[in-house]
Amino acid sequence: MIVLGIESSCDDTAAAVLAGRTVRASVVASQDAVHHKYGGIVPELASRSHIRAVIPVIDRALDQAGVTLGDVEGIAVTTGPGLIGSLLVGLSVAKAIAFSRRLPLVGVNHLEGHLLSPQLDDEVPFPYLVLLVSGGHTSLYWATALGRYQCLGMTRDDAAGEAFDKVAKILGLGYPGGRVIDELARSGQREAIRFPRARLKPGRSPRSFDFSFSGLKTAVWQYVREQQPSGAAAAAVAASFQEAVVDMLVETTLAAARQVGATRLVVAGGVAANSRLRQRVLAAGAEFGLAAHLPPLRYCTDNAAMIAYAGGCRLELGQRDEWTLNAAADLEL
Ligand code: KG4
Ligand code: ZN
Repeated sequence: MIVLGIESSCDDTAAAVLAGRTVRASVVASQDAVHHKYGGIVPELASRSHIRAVIPVIDRALDQAGVTLGDVEGIAVTTGPGLIGSLLVGLSVAKAIAFSRRLPLVGVNHLEGHLLSPQLDDEVPFPYLVLLVSGGHTSLYWATALGRYQCLGMTRDDAAGEAFDKVAKILGLGYPGGRVIDELARSGQREAIRFPRARLKPGRSPRSFDFSFSGLKTAVWQYVREQQPSGAAAAAVAASFQEAVVDMLVETTLAAARQVGATRLVVAGGVAANSRLRQRVLAAGAEFGLAAHLPPLRYCTDNAAMIAYAGGCRLELGQRDEWTLNAAADLEL
């Protein structure tokens, strides 16, 4: 089945064409240049940029796939979670195309897209544990089958990527900050500063493996305000901060893996690009007998191929959504 996927939940406008599991085209238009000077995403600017980009991005995906709308057999679109104005742009376009072409339409939860993203690279058999780490999410899911995902933990405050972005802003490095911190950290000593690692006791929720990054962020902010680091000292802050984040992510993930008896681990989301996290996940996998899957970055960061894949699985089962399909900023999985 040829599926057109559309994704606009945050600050990337994306469209992809899939034939089954084969990605025929995956186009992503980044808005980094729009938000860079504000040090974070400005929702109203994100919506307006999606409006300008969405049709050209879909056209480019169809062109690259060598198909026309006449060849498309179904449409999959992200309906949440995300910025509501951004989501509505993709959803409106998806509905318009589906209605005018009489095509089946399915809404996809963005998180399910991430959880299934490793399937685009390789057939990863269920069950597997997923550490989803992006600018918007930091969660652990136990994926046992298509549509069966148990949330084992999530962040109680900032997402890991958000913490990277905020620390980059504190150090005056611009947005998005993850890649810059990663690069700066290479020349810094990771044992230089002992920033706090939050170890959470299970709360009232049934989830036992939550994360928290706000205390760490505040500790970095205080350190930078007092010490005014630059040059090698700033690199030490970056490396020590990054090590604290990676410690928390890896420790909690391993504890969750032990609890559910996982033998496979997937790391997805923009922070999966982090070189130190990748190194530590591969080492921990080798040490504890976990097959670690780190999908290529183009499928880790936001993209529409993962949405087309998740939606395509539903469409092939004959599932469809109605024209009343709506977006929800806080859509749960
Ligand atoms: O998945 P993504 O593209 O978008 C969201 O859904 O949020 O993730 C973007 C996040 C940003 O916070 C960015 O700073 C972070 O991923 N990121 C990184 C790296 N590359 C991107 N964080 C740490 N190290 C990196 N190399
Ligand atoms: Zn995402």
